[in-house]
Amino acid sequence: MKVAVFSTKAYDRKFLDKANETVGHELTYFEPHLNEHTATLANGFEVVCAFVNDQLGSQVLEILKAQGTELIALRSAGFNHVDLRRAGELGITVARVPAYSPHAVAEHALALILGLNRKTHRAYNRVREGNFSLEGLLGFDLYGKTVGVIGTGKIGSIFARIMFALGCRVVAYDPFPDKSLLGTVEYVALDEVYQVADIISLHCPLLPETEHMIDAAALEKMKPGVMLINTSRGRLVDTRAVINSLKSCRIAYLGLDVYEEEGELFFDDLSQEIIKDDIFMRLLTFPNVLITSHQGFFTEEALHAIADTTIANISAFATGQGTLHRVSAQKSA
Ligand code: NAI
Repeated sequence: MKVAVFSTKAYDRKFLDKANETVGHELTYFEPHLNEHTATLANGFEVVCAFVNDQLGSQVLEILKAQGTELIALRSAGFNHVDLRRAGELGITVARVPAYSPHAVAEHALALILGLNRKTHRAYNRVREGNFSLEGLLGFDLYGKTVGVIGTGKIGSIFARIMFALGCRVVAYDPFPDKSLLGTVEYVALDEVYQVADIISLHCPLLPETEHMIDAAALEKMKPGVMLINTSRGRLVDTRAVINSLKSCRIAYLGLDVYEEEGELFFDDLSQEIIKDDIFMRLLTFPNVLITSHQGFFTEEALHAIADTTIANISAFATGQGTLHRVSAQKSA
């Protein structure tokens, strides 16, 4: 099939070409994000392959439909950026990569926790400059601390097991508890997670009911000195409220791999540009905030799996054989 790949980086090309080697779809790579201005690039392509910060609202879907697109093949698990209802109305199929390496994201959440706690990023710079002082680098033992996990699906369950293995007490909230975690995780009410956890890590999807779930009221319930980690989706967190909590010292550590307005920033080298997002720039001024630009998924294993499943989804759509990991307004697979 003719496939227009948006938001392409060199690594996408490398892994998709490899996965496509023996399959032979016609892949055309475009660097820009997909939006209403760039959608015309996909004119005549039956398949549009998109990533997390591509825009797939009703306007873009209507343009794609008029140009002949039949399948949106997402290179992500999350599909909150697609207007699934409109896609269904237009008869456009949407497929995703339901799981690639949940370990990659769970381990990145741990990396943020350890980095924030033991300040390895700061120590690295100090030592390189001949500054061997330990002032300001004091951490705490993770052993014995209470970790709150919000969402114990594929990623959250692995994260919970990692933290349990480190000797933490793990409490969790999920409307659909995972029975296989009993003995590792204590399922409690969401408010109790907020109240008892020393570290809270978000692993639930962005849905209308979870948007800004971490708002001023939720933050007010948390332990003073809490560490908050978000490797899930930026809009789970009301960033303005979090900044207030950093200022009042209720949040003592903040680790973000995702940010509400990351579409304007993440994945690109903006080091020569003026960044106009004042909220984001305010976050960067706190010494106890560690931000990575949506790299939780970014491991060899995950990129192989993303490329393989994306190509397999396109083939399944083309031939009607094999598994098509379809998402629709009603259900996902
Ligand atoms: P999943 O679908 O396997 O698990 C999500 C869990 O959240 C489910 O158990 C579900 O019952 C639960 N949940 C639903 N509503 C909830 C609520 N209101 N409160 C608490 N829990 C709720 O998803 P998966 O694969 O574990 O992904 C989790 C998140 O990680 C997603 O938002 C995804 O977009 C994000 N993600 C981030 C990546 C990164 O690079 N940083 C890469 C891949 C995924």
